[in-house]
Amino acid sequence: MIDAENLTRKFGELTAVDDLTFHVEEGEVFGFLGPNGAGKTTTIRMLTGLISKTSGKAQIGGYDIGNSEDMQKIRRMIGVLPENVGLYENLSAYQNLDYYGRFYKISAEHRHERIEYFLNLLGLWDQRNLRAGKFSKGMKQKLAIARALIHDPQILFLDEPTANLDPEASKTVRDFILELKSENRTIFLNTHLLDEATRICDRVGIMKTKLLAIDTPKNLSKTVSSTKTVIQIEKINYKIIEAVKKAKPGKVEVNGNKIIVEVVDAVEENPDILEAAFTAGGRIQLVTEVNPTLEEAYLKYVRSSD
Ligand SMILES: Nc1ncnc2c1ncn2[C@@H]1O[C@H](COP(=O)(O)OP(=O)(O)O)[C@@H](O)[C@H]1O
Ligand SMILES: [Mg+2]
Repeated sequence: MIDAENLTRKFGELTAVDDLTFHVEEGEVFGFLGPNGAGKTTTIRMLTGLISKTSGKAQIGGYDIGNSEDMQKIRRMIGVLPENVGLYENLSAYQNLDYYGRFYKISAEHRHERIEYFLNLLGLWDQRNLRAGKFSKGMKQKLAIARALIHDPQILFLDEPTANLDPEASKTVRDFILELKSENRTIFLNTHLLDEATRICDRVGIMKTKLLAIDTPKNLSKTVSSTKTVIQIEKINYKIIEAVKKAKPGKVEVNGNKIIVEVVDAVEENPDILEAAFTAGGRIQLVTEVNPTLEEAYLKYVRSSD
């Protein structure tokens, strides 16, 4: 659905986006992660035709972003939530969406249907006649998401859709993105929120001017550390620790009254580990699994690129 090959953008001397090559599948939620200034917004602006590329290629649904005729077709296929939402502040929420619907030549009846549907889904129907200028940051963000969807695009570009939203509004937007995914839409999502990416993205790209890594959040996490089983023992002693070390040589750490064991397959390995601790007289209070996080992988990649 989205293909970039050696995509590059320079602003004078500065290379903002350097040699990006990636592919996003139809129906995929693809997270584009990177620190401030990494080039995420510049990438979206190139892919959506807001700015030109300096070199390289990119195609959306098989159409070329460098070609103005193709760009017309691309514009009908995509919906964009830009970094700065830019609504008509003097128009009501309803009028803002209606204006865009007319722009895309959607019939009056269909426009009304879609506006009602999205405003309801995002919890803004009751405020439909309020001027957008009076909306809170979160309400504007949601309205701009509805605007990006008014012409029923197959592909969505969302630039930090939950930035500055409160936890409840963020959840509404995240759930909404998953709802869009279930309709098999392709979603390209810029974010620097790793937790958000882990929860909703099928795959993520970590970038800082260049693309540093691309994979599922789970696979990326696994590249930096492994799953750990943490056993909390009532009264820990040398004998218990030695018994666990014997069961899992080389993979055991101790922290206070906790024994931390690196495992590959917890379900397979935990019974022997726990039995060793128990047989050595350990009274087990808690057993928890600690999984590596995307944050660890992200920090590793971003720091190693400095
Ligand atoms: N129009 C522009 N003119 C000059 N430099 C720009 C312009 N837009 C972005 N940049 C620079 O490109 C780099 C990437 O910016 P941006 O794509 O906004 O990053 P991100 O969205 O990841 O925070 C930054 O160094 C930024 O200052
Ligand atoms: Mg940005």
